[in-house]
Amino acid sequence: MSSSTGPVPAATPALPGAGKPARKLLIRTWGCQMNVYDSGRMADILAPLGYAPTESAEEADMVILNTCHIREKASEKVFSDLGRLRETKKARAAEGRQTVIAVAGCVAQAEGAEITARAPWVDIVLGPQTYHRLPEMVARASRAAGAVIETDFPAEDKFDHLPEARATQGPVAFLTIQEGCDKFCSFCVVPYTRGAEFSRPAAAVLAEARQLAAGGAREIALLGQNVNAWAGASQDGGTWRLARLLRELAEIPGVARLRYTTSHPRDMDDDLIAAHGEIPALMPYLHLPVQSGSDRVLAAMNRGHKADLYLRLADRLREARPDLALTSDFIVGHPGETAADFDATMRLVERVGFAGAYSFKYSARPGTPAAGQPNAVPEAEKDARLQALQSVLRAQQDGFNRACVGRVVDVLVTGTGRHPGQVAGRSPWLQPVHATGAAPVGAVVPMTLRAALPNSLSATMASPCQETEESAAA
Ligand code: 5AD
Ligand code: SF4
Repeated sequence: MSSSTGPVPAATPALPGAGKPARKLLIRTWGCQMNVYDSGRMADILAPLGYAPTESAEEADMVILNTCHIREKASEKVFSDLGRLRETKKARAAEGRQTVIAVAGCVAQAEGAEITARAPWVDIVLGPQTYHRLPEMVARASRAAGAVIETDFPAEDKFDHLPEARATQGPVAFLTIQEGCDKFCSFCVVPYTRGAEFSRPAAAVLAEARQLAAGGAREIALLGQNVNAWAGASQDGGTWRLARLLRELAEIPGVARLRYTTSHPRDMDDDLIAAHGEIPALMPYLHLPVQSGSDRVLAAMNRGHKADLYLRLADRLREARPDLALTSDFIVGHPGETAADFDATMRLVERVGFAGAYSFKYSARPGTPAAGQPNAVPEAEKDARLQALQSVLRAQQDGFNRACVGRVVDVLVTGTGRHPGQVAGRSPWLQPVHATGAAPVGAVVPMTLRAALPNSLSATMASPCQETEESAAA
């Protein structure tokens, strides 16, 4: 079960394996019972990615040599096996078939560097402690060899085939600038289903944004699985990061508002933080998933950051833009999450204060590293933690909405309200707003927020000479 208390729609990751041709896996095992057991585990871990066992090296899309170091000359046997596999790999490549070769077990552990030096056609070397990361390593190896797992056509093609002129549906437009993810969070299928991070070139993004603005878009939301990892080729031969792109987008006539989603804490660079204070069109709203407040769980999740980084980011972002609203994603009950870990999440929530959030009970996704981990949290415990978390998040969201009452803010008019004579729009913080009166769709109108209702704010149009907080600050 998942539940949201925020205005940003959550992505629903697709399961891997669906509609894929079967792939074949050959595992050769040397040594002790432990190695035989490990080979079985590796086969289990790879089965959800579509790998079925085979005995034939010619048929195998992936070969794992699970090695043993105990007997003398064992490693020499591995190297002679690898020599034969090199020929098989070449022959298959000539037929357009990819072969991933992995060396696992004690030889890999002891002689990893030597293997890579002597047998560079080996794609993966993994010690016994890292078997749970096999799906991630296979995805990386397949990409490095030129194949993009699960993706039938490269991201570039997909963008290239966008229609030349895109009709804008209204004043709010979405613009995909980035796809894929290289982060490999333990619980998440996106890196396997969507492939490697890919950033559209700056010129293509700017051209599409100009087109959208010319078609009537006033607010542009930049999209990407890891949108703040965007690093797009620029026309001068360099690479721009997101802050630079936002600065350029803000200059396009007609573009009144900019947003971007979804971001990763690790990719919030200094310039992007500064951009929040420097670009008036960049809305004071950021969806920045943290997932957990416990360093132990964050490490188990392979998030690549600690809770403290998130807290510092929240402080720095608010320093740059004091009215910034933060929203986030949380997972409760990741394998191994203790009551103390969950308390750490609750403390982080209290400390940051969120304007909205999505929170989920951990659910195992086949093929992801966490799916193979022991220490599952009992379902009843997950339920209790989710309830506790959501009640705090809901109270924070209500508090945020109530605190907006009385403020005069710019509202982007998106249509008519539910009742006759009403207009509907959205606040800088993505809250739905409705007010009695008339204003054209696409207008940015100052309104006084009067009441916080369960799912929206009601407002009155401010007198034309009344300054909004934004215009007063500008
Ligand atoms: N279990 C629960 N929640 C998940 N999410 C992604 N994978 C899982 C999973 N296996 C959540 C994360 C992510 C959001 C889009 O979905 O919180 O940020
Ligand atoms: Fe999934 Fe983590 Fe990538 Fe987000 S950053 S898409 S949660 S792997």
